[in-house]
Amino acid sequence: MLIFLWAEGHDGVIGQNGQLPWHLPADMHFFKTATTGHTVIAGAKTFASFKRPLPNRTNVVVTHQAAEKFPDEVVILHSIEAIRGYARERPTEKLFVVGGAQIFAALLDDVDWLYRTVIDADFRGDTWMPAIDYDQFNLVKCQTGMHDAANPYDYRFEQYQRN
Ligand SMILES: NC(=O)c1ccc[n+]([C@@H]2O[C@H](COP(=O)([O-])OP(=O)(O)OC[C@H]3O[C@@H](n4cnc5c(N)ncnc54)[C@H](OP(=O)(O)O)[C@@H]3O)[C@@H](O)[C@H]2O)c1
Repeated sequence: MLIFLWAEGHDGVIGQNGQLPWHLPADMHFFKTATTGHTVIAGAKTFASFKRPLPNRTNVVVTHQAAEKFPDEVVILHSIEAIRGYARERPTEKLFVVGGAQIFAALLDDVDWLYRTVIDADFRGDTWMPAIDYDQFNLVKCQTGMHDAANPYDYRFEQYQRN
């Protein structure tokens, strides 16, 4: 089961200078809670932004680079087709595609679930979520996030299932 998990600001911005454009601890907590014990699939740039493999998760990285350039515990895949094959072999596992834009764009037709955090604010950015046809999905959950000193935005957590 392929699940996209991301956060976006106004206009679908998701990244700036290889990092997230915001600091939103509540969303980091959501990310950790959702993905722990499962698998995260990341493009090489997004994986680089993690600095190290995410603990207590299977880390899959998509890259053209040799596997030797990555930590031993990381599963390296060299193509989008290889991700599809990896997913086909694991139909009951939760495989969280965590970006970035290149990987999301390539898997738009394959994704089963969308976990989107919508941040109601403008951010400067250089990377955007590709356009998603939400008519193909049903919103099954929407939860407002807590706006407080540590999380100074209005934001919500949404979950969509493919029709
Ligand atoms: N807001 C969010 O939720 C969120 C989520 C994820 C990422 N981000 C942000 O998005 C930005 C990164 O996104 P991005 O789109 O620039 O990069 P990305 O998708 O994370 O990684 C791109 C890299 O993936 C590899 N790749 C892509 N297509 C491939 C293919 N068909 N076969 C093999 N390898 C392939 C290539 O790695 P090689 O060059 O090594 O070959 C490519 O350079 C960062 O700013 C990050 O913080 C935000």
